[in-house]
Amino acid sequence: MKQSKIIGLGFYVPENIVTNHDLSQKMNTTNEWIVERTGINQRHYYSPENNDTNYGFGVKASEIALKRANLEAKDIDLIVYATLSPDYYFPGSGVLLQRSMDFRNIAAIDVRAQCSGFMYGLSIADQFIKTGMYKNVLVVGSEIHSSGLDYSDEGRHVAVIFGDGAGAAVLTATDEKNKGILSSHLHSEGKYAEDLAILYPNSHAKDKFDPNEQKAGGKFYPIMNGSYVFKHAVTRMPEAIEEALNANNLKAEEVALYVPHQANDRITQTVQKRFNIPDEKIVRNIHNYGNTTAASIPIALTEAWEAGRIKENDLVCLFAFGSGFTWASAMIRW
Ligand code: COA
Repeated sequence: MKQSKIIGLGFYVPENIVTNHDLSQKMNTTNEWIVERTGINQRHYYSPENNDTNYGFGVKASEIALKRANLEAKDIDLIVYATLSPDYYFPGSGVLLQRSMDFRNIAAIDVRAQCSGFMYGLSIADQFIKTGMYKNVLVVGSEIHSSGLDYSDEGRHVAVIFGDGAGAAVLTATDEKNKGILSSHLHSEGKYAEDLAILYPNSHAKDKFDPNEQKAGGKFYPIMNGSYVFKHAVTRMPEAIEEALNANNLKAEEVALYVPHQANDRITQTVQKRFNIPDEKIVRNIHNYGNTTAASIPIALTEAWEAGRIKENDLVCLFAFGSGFTWASAMIRW
């Protein structure tokens, strides 16, 4: 059986930087509150006047990843596109990416696993490569959150957290043993689906696009039971790490770099303490980008790779938790 390895990484965030101070001018919040509770200093927001789109961010991140992989769009056999903020209700953003670059008429799979979306996508890519069906797969995570956040008091605990951006990874088949993605582990627990969700538009509403119905319930904004999400994240993320360690017979200290989904820096620090991970072995960049959901792991991974924090044969553990609830991990030998 083939193994799959990452041979190209890229990310893109829009130019428009929004600091905590900027947010405090348009809503009832403070820099101190945001920094203390989340670790976030700034995030990047899309600009409608620049015609920014979710798939457009995906294109920019993919171009960089493909260049670094020494491949062209026409060499890719499959697109896996993770997002919770798609360009359209349907079709998925994967096909919009497909038409925007020089891809062949390849399959484009959209993944809806929110903050675990990139991890789900990576695992899907890995399975197609392992079976020999595809050789080169592009996995993208991209989000535009800022257009749909509730900046009123009711939504401020959510609005301050999220940012926009995209990341991409190119995977290829290899015959090398014990290399690339060693294992991936995916989970969900739908009983908490409505604890972190956008409930509108939905297909079971009487009139799914009735703006009055949406406004009345405020349901077209994300809702989040923050303390619940926190509690589950700091339980499920360590479980996912343990699973990846056990599956590969590894000890926590053998991992060279941990790359968490950047949910909230307090969540990351709690997990970090639990495994005694020193600062140099974990990627924490939420202060610059906020939580970019499906984009956060590929952005963090790309930044770490660009900074020379990942070397050949290093063990890299990726892990995520998010809406669904969903959670996931992967162990990679670089
Ligand atoms: N600015 C200022 N005050 C705010 C605020 C904001 N942006 N958001 C909420 N508050 C206020 C609340 O109104 C509340 O005020 P009160 O005590 O007068 O009622 C107070 O701060 C505490 O609110 P609460 O929601 O209980 O805060 P918290 O300590 O639970 O922190 C989160 C909120 C969202 C930071 C925290 O729950 C969290 O990090 N959860 C996980 C979120 C996450 O990671 N989501 C992404 C998952 S992928």
